[in-house]
Amino acid sequence: MKNKENINIKKGGRAAFGRVDAFIQDKISKGRYGFNELIKAGADSGRMLKRPFSYLETFINDAGVAAIHPSSKYLVARVVRAVEQGGPRVVVEFGAAEGVMTKKILKILARDGRLAAIERNEGFYKKLAEIEDPRLRTARGDVRNMADILRGMEIKNADCFVSGIPFSFLSPEERFTLIREIYAHLPHGGRFVAYQCTTHLIPLLRKQFRQIKVELEIRNMPPHFVFTAIKK
Ligand SMILES: C[S@@+](CC[C@H](N)C(=O)[O-])C[C@H]1O[C@@H](n2cnc3c(N)ncnc32)[C@H](O)[C@@H]1O
Repeated sequence: MKNKENINIKKGGRAAFGRVDAFIQDKISKGRYGFNELIKAGADSGRMLKRPFSYLETFINDAGVAAIHPSSKYLVARVVRAVEQGGPRVVVEFGAAEGVMTKKILKILARDGRLAAIERNEGFYKKLAEIEDPRLRTARGDVRNMADILRGMEIKNADCFVSGIPFSFLSPEERFTLIREIYAHLPHGGRFVAYQCTTHLIPLLRKQFRQIKVELEIRNMPPHFVFTAIKK
């Protein structure tokens, strides 16, 4: 499988998605099994991950983190490229964690640009808030309250939303509402860039957006899809 794969969903890539999705899910469940075994082995021998990486520790305490390490540099580069292609001035980031994407987005952002980064987990948020850049605003909160959070930051619209939150943890209604709110906050030509390890978001994106590009980055554990939905 090529690692730089752009999939045009209009050209009947759906069956292929299903196979890629199943492949990734299989890798994730095997990975989870190994992870559980690791914890069990550590606990049994009294060496229960005494000095875990902050991500791993955070993941153990907060399943909503949905990752045991930050995105790989390849996934970050792919996501940031999708953001940059829209030439945004105002960007909103969902699920920024410690700021692995945030720092790179700041690198491509215009000097007079603004980046609003939202993170729900307290430990990650503390690290995120340490990033010093006058263009960055951070908020500790849940993106389900994005309208209020953005209002508090005096942001009416954004040219780009970028999201790493696990949409599968939201109820179907919450997902739908969130996508609708994102769409409402975008100008024509604005984009929503989401990175996820499943394709479940595609039908939902198609309800709002007419143009959706799908890429696959396999150099991440697990491999991730990058969806770029553009408001026309
Ligand atoms: C898969 S991690 C991605 C982290 C980071 N952006 C990266 O690329 O490595 C998802 C992040 O979203 C955060 N998150 C999950 N649900 C959220 C929500 N409803 N509101 C805000 N943040 C959320 C988690 O705490 C976690 O930091």
